[in-house]
Amino acid sequence: MLQSFNHINKVSGELRLPGDKSISHRAVFFSSMAEGKSVIKNLSDSEDVASTIKCFSDLGCEIKKEKNQFVVAGKGFKKFNKPNKPLDCGNSGTTARLLAGLLSAQNFETTLIGDESLSERPMDRVMIPLKKIGVNFESENDRLPLKIIPDKEHHPINYELPIPSAQIKSSVILAGLHCEGITSVIEKIPSRNHTEKMLGLEVKKSESGNTILVSKKNYPIPAEYFIPSDVSSAAFFVVLTTLTKGSSLRIKNASLNETRKGYLRILKEMGARINFENISVSSGEIYGDIIVESSQLKNVEIAEGIIPNIIDEIAILSVAGLFAEGNFSIKGAKELRKKESDRINALCYNYKLLGLDIDEFEDGFSISGKIINKGVTFESFNDHRIVMTFSILSLLLNDGGKVNNFNCVKISNPDFINQIKQITG
Ligand code: S3P
Repeated sequence: MLQSFNHINKVSGELRLPGDKSISHRAVFFSSMAEGKSVIKNLSDSEDVASTIKCFSDLGCEIKKEKNQFVVAGKGFKKFNKPNKPLDCGNSGTTARLLAGLLSAQNFETTLIGDESLSERPMDRVMIPLKKIGVNFESENDRLPLKIIPDKEHHPINYELPIPSAQIKSSVILAGLHCEGITSVIEKIPSRNHTEKMLGLEVKKSESGNTILVSKKNYPIPAEYFIPSDVSSAAFFVVLTTLTKGSSLRIKNASLNETRKGYLRILKEMGARINFENISVSSGEIYGDIIVESSQLKNVEIAEGIIPNIIDEIAILSVAGLFAEGNFSIKGAKELRKKESDRINALCYNYKLLGLDIDEFEDGFSISGKIINKGVTFESFNDHRIVMTFSILSLLLNDGGKVNNFNCVKISNPDFINQIKQITG
């Protein structure tokens, strides 16, 4: 579906967004693993989280929507039912990689499958540590379909992450929850820490990074979760407001987890007027209102150490950089090539359509020059964050713009269009 956008003049009001996708996945995992009834409020309505729910239903959990909350009847330690068909992770890397860890520790074999895009994404990053714990895999080129063949014995490991990735970290932690002994995961550069926070794991901090400790005694028990609003979805509206003259917006109850706020720190450094109010904590996760007002921005250097913290927001940050004084440039972000699309390629391709001068590197890109072309149709690369990035850019362009294959927005935020209408009048 081709979606057209006209230039907007003002952003105002208040926005309530559905629950954070990363925290929602984990709430469904931990509720399904815990023996008994858990309740999840403000769960993400994304297709990715629906994939996680479907997988746990196929593993024998009852997950029901009741009014404005989800009620989960969890199975308990190693009590999932062996599914009679492969588990379909759809487009969701988090579902596939976290399930690989959890299913490595069950007493039956399972196969994970996914859509075309997910089937091209690397799974060796979780297979390597999980093999050390004691599991065998069958797959072609370390991609989905992935058959998981658990060993009778699995052992705790000490694993230093070769890539700063919350998905790898969480996969090892989920397997480690099934061992008597202590599994330790070492990360030199911190990635999002929802798994550790929500399970209340011990984290030893030192100059060389974080060591996360996990064992069977941390196995989840039934709980009531309130999921803060998705701070990555909020990023699109924060940038739109900042770049639209005479605008202001309040985003209610957004996740303000330190490992997710990197883009807000960078925007503030660029000159954006952003404040936080009504701060609270639920299930170990901090949240509050984000208040943003329009501002003049200037580009700043983005340090490589912050990349894992802004990995899902780099695309929309580059739009802020495009309208800021100076040139936008990012390096050290080669993981962007491994997302739902090769995002470096997708961003460069679309910026070139506007006639901008783009320098593409293996681990990033830079933008210079002026927007020359009007009425551009941007390509989605079948990637929800690319779709939302160029939808926002279209709203900012004097002549608007169009985005191809807009439908894949539902992977993270099905209500995106209505949210735009609500704040732009
Ligand atoms: C996620 C971790 C990140 C992120 C993804 C969600 C998670 O991936 O890009 O959208 O929920 O753990 P990596 O851990 O592979 O960087």
